[in-house]
Amino acid sequence: MARLDTGRGFARAVQSAVYRAGISGRRPAVPTTFAGLEEAARRALAPEAFAYLAGGAGSEHTMAANTEAFARWQVIPRVLRDVSERDLSIELLGRRRATPIVLSPLGVMELAHPDADVAVGRAAAALDVPYILSNQASRPMEEVAAAMGDASRWFQLYWSSSDDLNASLVRRAEAIGCEAIVITLDTHLLGWRTRDLDLGFLPFTRGQGIAQYTSDPVFAELVRDRVEHGADTAPDAPAVKVTPKAIRAALGIARAGSRAGLVDGGLAAAVRSPLPRAAVETFLDVFADPSLTWERIARIRDLTDLPVLLKGVVHPDDADRAVDAGMDGIVVSNHGGRQVDRSVPTIAVLPEIVERVAGRAPIILDSGVRGGADAVIALALGATAVGLGRPYAYGLAVAGATGVSEVVRNTIAELDVTLALAGCTSIDDLGPGVLREA
Ligand code: FNR
Repeated sequence: MARLDTGRGFARAVQSAVYRAGISGRRPAVPTTFAGLEEAARRALAPEAFAYLAGGAGSEHTMAANTEAFARWQVIPRVLRDVSERDLSIELLGRRRATPIVLSPLGVMELAHPDADVAVGRAAAALDVPYILSNQASRPMEEVAAAMGDASRWFQLYWSSSDDLNASLVRRAEAIGCEAIVITLDTHLLGWRTRDLDLGFLPFTRGQGIAQYTSDPVFAELVRDRVEHGADTAPDAPAVKVTPKAIRAALGIARAGSRAGLVDGGLAAAVRSPLPRAAVETFLDVFADPSLTWERIARIRDLTDLPVLLKGVVHPDDADRAVDAGMDGIVVSNHGGRQVDRSVPTIAVLPEIVERVAGRAPIILDSGVRGGADAVIALALGATAVGLGRPYAYGLAVAGATGVSEVVRNTIAELDVTLALAGCTSIDDLGPGVLREA
């Protein structure tokens, strides 16, 4: 993943690297279209893993609306403007960033690839794209940070019902050099995920995607307390039938507990210990707090001096209130259509949110961004930056860190070429005048 020589434009550097490699018969590691990527990921993954990554809430109307809403806007190409020199950089949270792309937090990346978050971190670092580390990661944040060197990372927090755990996670994020905390607010209840329900598959119940918890000292204390009080299984949980699948799941939980250091003495000890199972149950207890309010979230200011962004905001009033409450930015997101079916698509609410908060706080948009042209539309409508989600998960599934790297690289290249063909030379040039309503 050598850095591209982008002296004559990022898009051109990517295109010539790809076409030159093609002469000697080498093809890119991942398809360039979203449909191609999704299909390649589907072929690469177990049905449960693909369902978790690709699925949305209910009948997946929101997922469809997210991408369809982009179709309401069209880019107007312009000619005979000197666009030979282009600058994709933006100012975000007090720093100049090479591009307006960030990687949205995606949990349970071990479903896509064994290198999971570490692979994503490496790719993000190589391309100088901020990576928002997920609270539901498959690898502890310290491990991902070590793989990223001093590259830009932020931490996404799910505000758990344990204040001590929230404080501990934020302390760890500060210690590994995160530049910001992103609190995701739209998942205080798990959405009605039909594909996962049909398969009876929720990764967390198998010890997947809880590495930030099992590696946390406060969480470990909660787990030990639970075991000491003899409550290592949920009281209302039906007995699990002993089948090969159940045994595999139990082994997976034990392995996760062993890897996280919850149990000493390797896998054999972890299989005999009640701690890994108790960790899963503790996680399910503390994960989210549907009673959360604006008053309580304000406590984040007692926990950190880092910039705080609220993710999952789609109502202009909520965006306004977040900024009034002193938050440092918002992420306009509907969680990729995974929470509310028939939700408003993010790109449709963006103009109103921009009207209310632009200039007071940065606005990052995700949910439905499938390529560089989508990013151009979001930026032209006033987003400060754009978050990439599923596309990079699929890249990870198809070709590990190289796959993530190619997906992100392709998105930036398409953004660059679209910007130029729209007659612009910088992200600041992008405004409503670049677009027309379809
Ligand atoms: C997510 N998303 C998410 N968001 C978050 O704040 N924390 C998380 O752990 C996760 N995990 C996660 C897993 C998977 C598999 C998906 C697809 C999504 C939501 C994510 O950050 C982002 O908002 C969406 O992915 C954007 O939608 P698209 O563009 O991916 O469809």
